[in-house]
Amino acid sequence: MTRGLALSKLVLPAAIAALAASTFAVRANDTQITNAFRGALQNRTSSSPDEHLFVEKCGMCHRQMGMGTVILGRRMEPKVAMLEAREDLTAETVIASARMGIGNMPRISRGEVSDAQLARIAAYLAKAPGR
Ligand code: HEC
Repeated sequence: MTRGLALSKLVLPAAIAALAASTFAVRANDTQITNAFRGALQNRTSSSPDEHLFVEKCGMCHRQMGMGTVILGRRMEPKVAMLEAREDLTAETVIASARMGIGNMPRISRGEVSDAQLARIAAYLAKAPGR
């Protein structure tokens, strides 16, 4: 009895150590998918009131690591996955996309972003890139 107990005291920690080691082995191998934005934080800064509005209303999805950036990155050049890097956006496209929704983007109501605010955001994006 005491012998069995002593044995389990030895075996159990050994088993745990082996398990931990195998977990590390899985973590350390290089079959992992690399996230392009790994370690990056979203840049929430702005240098104009219109840019600030964009960051506040759209940035969570359309700046670094945002769902919009990730999804747009699948169907266009990654360097223009962020809306602010696009040169082809017109104010009309931006307004229509926001009001009707597009693909995986939900429509954005006037309660969330007023017409006046959306017009400012659209003008800001139509002027990009460079900001
Ligand atoms: C909840 C996340 C989310 C928010 C908030 C959001 N978007 Fe989007 N947006 C998306 C996604 C996802 C797509 C890509 C849709 C697809 O291709 O399926 C997208 C696509 C777009 C496109 C289309 C680009 C193209 O070339 O097709 C425009 C324009 C756009 N968003 C503008 C805006 C604006 C302006 C705002 C803020 C008022 C905004 N979005 C807020 C998720 C979001």
